[in-house]
Amino acid sequence: MKRKGIILAGGTGSRLWPITMGVSKQLLPVYDKPMIYFPLSTLMLGGIREIAIITTPDDQPQFRRLLGDGSQWGLSFEWIIQPSPDGLAQAYVLAEDFLAGAPSAMVLGDNIFFGHGLPEMLATADARDQGGSVFGYHVADPERYGVVAFDAQGRVSAIVEKPQHPPSSFAVTGLYYLDGRAPALARGIKPSPRGELEIVDLLEVYRAEGSLQVERMGRGFAWLDTGTHASLLDAGNFVRTLEERQGLQVGSPDEIAFRQGWIDAAALETRARLFGKTAYGRYLGAVAHE
Ligand code: TTP
Repeated sequence: MKRKGIILAGGTGSRLWPITMGVSKQLLPVYDKPMIYFPLSTLMLGGIREIAIITTPDDQPQFRRLLGDGSQWGLSFEWIIQPSPDGLAQAYVLAEDFLAGAPSAMVLGDNIFFGHGLPEMLATADARDQGGSVFGYHVADPERYGVVAFDAQGRVSAIVEKPQHPPSSFAVTGLYYLDGRAPALARGIKPSPRGELEIVDLLEVYRAEGSLQVERMGRGFAWLDTGTHASLLDAGNFVRTLEERQGLQVGSPDEIAFRQGWIDAAALETRARLFGKTAYGRYLGAVAHE
């Protein structure tokens, strides 16, 4: 079965208050694009075209206005509401009908991935249709994340949420490739003391049966945080630096759709005209004429 995508774009964004009291975090700008363009681009680089977007009840209309039905990129979107932010693993329960037994790639709506070889890494994870794959990234402050513990053979022996004494420096990033059992397994886990269905508890089910792979994202990758005021600004500056230096776009669903062959040059030119007043529009026009 073809893998389907999920973008989890709910939550409260309370670390970004007061900004996110009026607008969803995942709609905020990261330099020149709305944040959700970046995780969407990641799924598209993984070859995924059927995507459920999970939002809060209040924010869904704005996301729909921004993203439409996905046909402009050769995608199809399904819209799902998370009534309250009851944890990352709840996404699988909410998306059960949408997935209909298919394996999934779920990305958090505030996670930005950038790096040479990302499509190949995603293809490797996609090819594994039993069990799950997560992506470990070396960070300076592992105590803020879910952290991977490795045994002597280099296999994952545990994933520990926000450990005081981190067993490694590898954080689990917000991108999860799980097989078709994920919704049923998510139903089986119990809410944590903070009342959420925790992704680490779901991953533990896979780990315990020996079917969880941890792909290490090496130092050539960027995994950027956007959850605080400073990290959001840093992420924006990172994107600006790359785009201005290279003259290439980061996180453009339009360009990726074209390069994947999901839209043709005429469709890309239509998008370029829509954005005609911006550098982004001129860029898309140039890509369409390559
Ligand atoms: P978090 O950063 O853990 O939470 P948050 O976005 O609500 O922010 P804050 O901590 O500042 O209050 O969430 C990670 C991502 O997952 C983010 O994109 C929001 C999303 N999310 C949901 O969609 N539903 C949920 O139940 C939770 C916990 C998070």
